[in-house]
Amino acid sequence: MSGAPVSVLFVCLGNICRSPLAEGIFAALAKERGVEGEFHVDSAGTAAYHSGEPADSRSAAVAADHGIGLTGFARQVTPRDFERFDIIVAMDRSNRRSLERLRRRLRGGLAEIVMMRDYDPGARDPDVPDPYYGGPGGFERVFRILERACSGLLDELADRD
Ligand code: 4NP
Repeated sequence: MSGAPVSVLFVCLGNICRSPLAEGIFAALAKERGVEGEFHVDSAGTAAYHSGEPADSRSAAVAADHGIGLTGFARQVTPRDFERFDIIVAMDRSNRRSLERLRRRLRGGLAEIVMMRDYDPGARDPDVPDPYYGGPGGFERVFRILERACSGLLDELADRD
């Protein structure tokens, strides 16, 4: 790829569990492939419940187990995100509906809204499961899903050029 970095925003409900992990994993995989300069990544939530908070400690722990640090703080999706980002990646169908509703209401933005698991080869469920109310095993499972899906998304974006 060449030219301006492709900007990618990962979105879940609270921006403390799934989307910060997706952002961290995507950035780590891009670095591994030597293409980190070609992307700008961020994450946000459709809800504001946890705005200003760091990633959930269980997400941070599973990321750290895989050598990835999560350094951001939760924020809610803003109208500007639909203009600033090329691609907005929803973790589940509910997130996608919220994003599409928001964009219609705001009449804004050309960002492409896609589903994270569309890039997970062999996924039978369209959603990245919400691990918030489960145990630590759920976070490890989400990590593996996101690792496959972020790798697939990177392949797809590399092929676009
Ligand atoms: P996330 O997980 O959307 O992956 O960040 C959740 C975080 C918080 C809540 C639900 C899901 N909550 O209900 O507060």
